[in-house]
Amino acid sequence: MNVGVAHSEVNPNTRVMNSRGMWLTYALGVGLLHIVLLSIPFFSVPVAWTLTNVIHNLGMYVFLHAVKGTPFETPDQGKARLLTHWEQLDYGVQFTSSRKFFTISPIILYFLASFYTKYDPTHFILNTASLLSVLIPKMPQLHGVRIFGINKFIAASPGDETRDCVDDITSGATRSVSASCNNAATDFARKRTPLLATVIHEEGIIYRVSMLILNKAAGVFSKPSRREIYEFLRSFNFRPGKVFLHKLVLGIETSCDDTAAAVVDETGNVLGEAIHSQTEVHLKTGGIVPPVAQQLHRENIQRIVQEALSTSKVSPSELSAIATTVKPGLALSLGVGLSFSLQLVDQLKKPFIPIHHMEAHALTIRLLNKVEFPFLVLLISGGHCLLALVRGVSDFLLLGKSLDIAPGDMLDKVARRLSLIKHPECSTMSGGKAIEHLAKQGNKLHFDFKPPMQRAKNCDFSFTGLQHVIDKIITQKEKEEGIQKGQILSSAAHIAAAVQHTTACHIAKRTHRAILFCKQRDLLSQSNAVLVVSGGVASNLYIRKALEIVTNATQCTLLCPPPRLCTDNGIMIAWNGIERLRAGLGILHNTEGIRYEPKCPLGVDISKEVGEAAIKVPRLKMKI
Ligand SMILES: *[C@@H]1O[C@H](CO)[C@@H](O)[C@H](O)[C@H]1NC(C)=O
Repeated sequence: MNVGVAHSEVNPNTRVMNSRGMWLTYALGVGLLHIVLLSIPFFSVPVAWTLTNVIHNLGMYVFLHAVKGTPFETPDQGKARLLTHWEQLDYGVQFTSSRKFFTISPIILYFLASFYTKYDPTHFILNTASLLSVLIPKMPQLHGVRIFGINKFIAASPGDETRDCVDDITSGATRSVSASCNNAATDFARKRTPLLATVIHEEGIIYRVSMLILNKAAGVFSKPSRREIYEFLRSFNFRPGKVFLHKLVLGIETSCDDTAAAVVDETGNVLGEAIHSQTEVHLKTGGIVPPVAQQLHRENIQRIVQEALSTSKVSPSELSAIATTVKPGLALSLGVGLSFSLQLVDQLKKPFIPIHHMEAHALTIRLLNKVEFPFLVLLISGGHCLLALVRGVSDFLLLGKSLDIAPGDMLDKVARRLSLIKHPECSTMSGGKAIEHLAKQGNKLHFDFKPPMQRAKNCDFSFTGLQHVIDKIITQKEKEEGIQKGQILSSAAHIAAAVQHTTACHIAKRTHRAILFCKQRDLLSQSNAVLVVSGGVASNLYIRKALEIVTNATQCTLLCPPPRLCTDNGIMIAWNGIERLRAGLGILHNTEGIRYEPKCPLGVDISKEVGEAAIKVPRLKMKI
């Protein structure tokens, strides 16, 4: 009895019969039946219509009004066993949309049949009789009624009690009597109408198989979102990209120390991706050396792009465009990606979409969530720190940015100064991760670092000052403890906790002000504004919690892409290409004179205006 077991519902049968997918499946089935009948040579058009109508009504009678029970295991102790499908529909509630649908559809079919048979008397009588056979049992007055014993005994599997049977037994009936009566009922159904029993008996194979097919078909049609249909087709190794999808973009990213590429379609499906990280090499040299990065990009870019294309099973000729990061970033690194892409664009004769790295970071969330413009974005990573209002695909208002280094950079520097790489628990972690890990064991109030820029009422950030203060403290502690630079301080965990807390408060405060500013100027919705936080530092859960306190206090929704999309990747570049293709913005058919730009602000800088508004931010309890 385990056909499509679903214990979460009272009766899955009710859901199947009631799903919108069932309506479409049913309509398609009737259409198909009619086409098949029409295509049989000796049937005239009227005969085909009457046959469609009669067969449809017979099928409907059997399925909705004769079969009882359900092919699914129901946790309602088998109550459904006593009811026909029609009676199970919507748990017996009358006049629901499903009931109306299944009532009106035979009437429509009847009118069509009558019209095409030109009201010929024989056809008319047949059609009317068959219509009545499915309309009468639908009347609410007949719910659960079994006239003249019609339909009385069929259904019920051994071991279940049927009401009809129990009613017949005089008081004092025992379980064994009831069971034998039950078996008798089943036997009755089998003996009297062996064929009918196979078709409509609850355990009948034909019944179970047809319900299973109906269930599956309804599942496919129930939510015809494009993504699901593509995935369904792809499961048969059929690639819809060629046939239906007009937009497929190859994205290439080389702005810093990762060589990355990806192919994304217009529904946001990542068809293929590849990435080569240079982090290990740069860890050894203690930072990124641009010529080394350039060399590594050169060595890997061909292979990475090839890999992204081959895993996506998209041939280069199917691409709609090639999108590549051209700003901002390390000049030497950007150069490798750009010249490679321009060669490819030239070879394939495809449009080129130059991408702003920060724009790509900001739009990534739209690949995953349905986020409408405008929304606020906070980008915090090892190389970036900014707050911007995203009003459109390439319409940004820059509210604030770091005046010196980025928070990830500062955390890395502190970790290095504390020599956390030598800490037994942190030896394999990046600087930022090590701080987050160690901070859990420390007391954030042990040291009292003042958050930077307390007096500047704008949305800019600064981290160098904080870094210097921490540097001094560490030197002082080293003296106190009498240890050499490079050894681990006993108070390292406290320092990590304090620096993380101060960073979180600083970022939270600036973000809070940005939210208030945007709401004050009606740039963001008052009640359901969205704050998107992205970048490597967004993976720090402590900082994220601080931001959650801010969004909770301001009735905003906080969204973060998953970590692999927060850091540099090819997917976000390809997705930005899709966004630009859809908006028809910045698609180049002629790449002459295109250059990379190591420095490039994002959008229109209104940070001065934000500062002039001098918005006071209410104090929030940062209980993290
Ligand atoms: C924010 O609000 C949600 C829902 O009210 C709550 O579950 C969550 O704990 C809150 N977060 C913080 C950090 O206060």
